[in-house]
Amino acid sequence: RGAPPTVVVIFGASGDLTARKLIPAVFNLSYDNLLPADFFLVGYGRKAIPDEEFRTLATDAIKEFSRRELNAEVWGRVAANTSYVAGGYDERAAFDRLAQHIAAIEKKIGREVQTLFYISTPPSVFGPILQNLGASGLASKYLGQAHHSKVIIEKPFGKDLKSAQELNKTIRSVLEEHQVYRIDHYLGKETVQDLLVQRFANSIFEPLWNRNFIDHVQITVAEEVGVGTRGGYYEQSGALRDMIQNHTMQLLALTAMEPPVSLDAEAVRDEKVKVLKAIQPLRLGAGGDVARAQYSEGMMGGKQAKGYLQEEGINPQSATETYAGIRLSINNWRWQGVPFYLRSGKRMARRVTEIAVQFKRPPGTLFAESDRFNLAPNTLAFQIQPDEGLSMILNGKVPGLETRTQPVKMNFRYSTTYGSNTPEAYERLVLDAMVGDGTLFIRGDEAETSWKLYTPVLEAWAAAGREGMDSYPVGSWGPANADALLAASKHTWRQP
Ligand code: BG6
Repeated sequence: RGAPPTVVVIFGASGDLTARKLIPAVFNLSYDNLLPADFFLVGYGRKAIPDEEFRTLATDAIKEFSRRELNAEVWGRVAANTSYVAGGYDERAAFDRLAQHIAAIEKKIGREVQTLFYISTPPSVFGPILQNLGASGLASKYLGQAHHSKVIIEKPFGKDLKSAQELNKTIRSVLEEHQVYRIDHYLGKETVQDLLVQRFANSIFEPLWNRNFIDHVQITVAEEVGVGTRGGYYEQSGALRDMIQNHTMQLLALTAMEPPVSLDAEAVRDEKVKVLKAIQPLRLGAGGDVARAQYSEGMMGGKQAKGYLQEEGINPQSATETYAGIRLSINNWRWQGVPFYLRSGKRMARRVTEIAVQFKRPPGTLFAESDRFNLAPNTLAFQIQPDEGLSMILNGKVPGLETRTQPVKMNFRYSTTYGSNTPEAYERLVLDAMVGDGTLFIRGDEAETSWKLYTPVLEAWAAAGREGMDSYPVGSWGPANADALLAASKHTWRQP
């Protein structure tokens, strides 16, 4: 998986994501010897920052955020090839300067390099950056050869169907689809990649993976953090846009899709799109498929915590949801009649992301639920984070002279089997883009299919204002209206 000589250009170089994730990812790739021998890092941003200062910022970012301690020799190699270009995102001439900067690198090493542009800016400048990449010729450089230019685009990919379509249109006017890497960092998580392996490298799951054996599926992406200092962004976003439409739907797609014909990027993404297209439109209004709520003040971790409406930068009348719960029906041969429940919220009881597949109960002829027979439905739970692993709930006999049963848990833990220092999502994703593997990125039609499902919900919520907005105390497992989504089918949310 060797990458050709590469320049990575980060747009938004002084931003939060660059410091927290991108620079540490580059450092760790270098540590693992996964960067090409000729590797160059170029920061680009509006602020004028001397090269030396950018290198210091990068070094500080590694010290603060990397999973590995800074190693001066490893980082020194990258730092020696790290530079900074100042310019506006809509400043055409600045992109010519950037092109010259890259040409100078090529001249210095006497070889052509591929350029990987990482757009990590607010979405308002995605358009201008793409257009300038097109106009300056940077986007089409070496097209037709393996070391053609590539572009990584950070989230959010649009805010509804129309804006996602427009963004795709802009992208297609300057790039070919195979040059585009739309990020959903959940796809870079080890456990998310393991989902495909668990499903298709084992023979015991697939025969059961359908409506005949599975009762329902619950996907939870719960966070303990609140909106923190991101109020400005979050007010425009909310849980549905921020988490459900992208991260949670990716987990759903990988859980529910058909086996792809190969592990090729297009084969995998074809299956994901296919299953997303089979999802029925969501029913809105009373008794519908969606629930939303905001966290309200209360005690969390022994401390008094603010409600969403009291947070800094939040409109006290805000109609932005910090929790969304969804009931989905997938209308295909495999899944018809099996509800998929999705939920994501901030300020919940515990940070946990899991996919819980609950199987049907056995016939109650021998062990009917009673004082002696305490039974739980068989549940296979993929623990995506933080306690990475896989667990299975079975019913077993309690040792003793009479027959009593109780649920027991079989556990596989990453930390016990593999140790804890596994790669971060961004390491894998940056590497994949460098070598041209799009499997773990969102294809244009995939983004649009997901937005198509949720846009009517967003529109209905916007029209309703605060009407229908429930609340849940900080540190809880969510609002009553989300419980009601499941109660209709006599299901209840798990407390992972
Ligand atoms: C981001 C969201 O995409 O994902 C954040 O914008 C959220 O609001 C974050 O906190 C969660 O990511 P992770 O990897 O910490 O689960």
